[in-house]
Amino acid sequence: MEGNDYAYEAVSGHSCLNLGHAHPELIEAATEAFKTLSYCSPEHQSHASIELANTLSRLLGDAYKIKYAISGSSANEMALNIARRRWQALGYSNKTVSLSLDRSYHGNLGLAKQVTGFEPFKVDTHITSDDFVYISSARNAATGEMYSLSEIQAQIETTIEKIGQDRIACLFVEPVNFAGGVIVPPKGYLKLLRQLCDEHQITLIVDEVITGFGRTGSWFAFQQEAIRPDMVTMGKGITAGYFPLAAVAVEKHIYEDLTHLKVPLKMVITMAGHPTGCSIALKAIEIIERDKLRQQLVKQASTIHALFDPAKQSPIIKDIRGFGYMWGLEFCDYNGLAAPAIANKIAHNCERNGCIVAAADGIIRINPPLNMSADECNSMGKAIINAIHQVTIELTT
Ligand SMILES: Cc1ncc(COP(=O)(O)O)c(C=O)c1O
Repeated sequence: MEGNDYAYEAVSGHSCLNLGHAHPELIEAATEAFKTLSYCSPEHQSHASIELANTLSRLLGDAYKIKYAISGSSANEMALNIARRRWQALGYSNKTVSLSLDRSYHGNLGLAKQVTGFEPFKVDTHITSDDFVYISSARNAATGEMYSLSEIQAQIETTIEKIGQDRIACLFVEPVNFAGGVIVPPKGYLKLLRQLCDEHQITLIVDEVITGFGRTGSWFAFQQEAIRPDMVTMGKGITAGYFPLAAVAVEKHIYEDLTHLKVPLKMVITMAGHPTGCSIALKAIEIIERDKLRQQLVKQASTIHALFDPAKQSPIIKDIRGFGYMWGLEFCDYNGLAAPAIANKIAHNCERNGCIVAAADGIIRINPPLNMSADECNSMGKAIINAIHQVTIELTT
């Protein structure tokens, strides 16, 4: 395909456009919302912000209080503040440390940037602080091998012992490190983190900014491990990418502590919980429910995964992994070494074939909109496979 005429946005814009471009119902919801109430101060509540808070709590399994933000970064920063201030109010004033994973991404602003364990995002303003401690992800960064649950447990327990649980306020985790290379942890991982956080009085914050709103088949990925995080942060797909909106869901017992201890939570952001964003979010959730898109995704995910099978024969493929509608294709050179230039070339060829993917560090990331038809999934998969074939042939001739 020539020019800029793309058929498939295989990365949903920037992991947010979960229902594709120009969805008429989302446009109508936005138009009606602007006509009804063009703005509402974060000191007040609109009908839409109340209804969305109730809906989110229902999707999360009830008993979560919702605080609105405007971006995933600000939601994570808010969650960190809530965790620290609660421990302070409970008399644990040394509990200020945040644990987060190597190659995690939690945002590009302020404290969220510090929580992020992904070096490319830290270079500009790297502030060293004992309050930000990084633990290994579920994948060995040097060898690419996955750790077992018992190895992960031992690593975390060693870190906790070294720092002291009296210093640790919270642990941030993405159910799948998407930006960090689509690292899919072993089953039971979140359950293990929940257990360790309970044992050591650490607030568990699950960052569902990418994985939320159906992308893994459940509303939120943590639900597949039947745990209850202390806080859940969300953004991006909450409005299917049609409006800047994000939120922190605070579990009831945490919220009750904050209320009883009279912790002032004046985290006012002018545009947070904008009624238009909340109305669009309600419509997006309604569409996902009504059109059974989570169920459709579960069926189609394995079909798309199977489409990548022929690529496994290519000598430049190191690994293909995924979960729900999130895949990572990792490339290598003939010596088995990471090959960013090859991944970039394949991404370029994908674009020439009409399909936009994201390449970084030798890994191509794919996470398409939830409402792609079976035919569209098929064509998207073929565009990617063809790009891999083209580059494999180029490199071998
Ligand atoms: C897991 C995760 N958390 C947080 C963020 C930050 O969100 P935002 O860019 O809306 O600040 C991102 C953005 O890519 C993300 O992937």
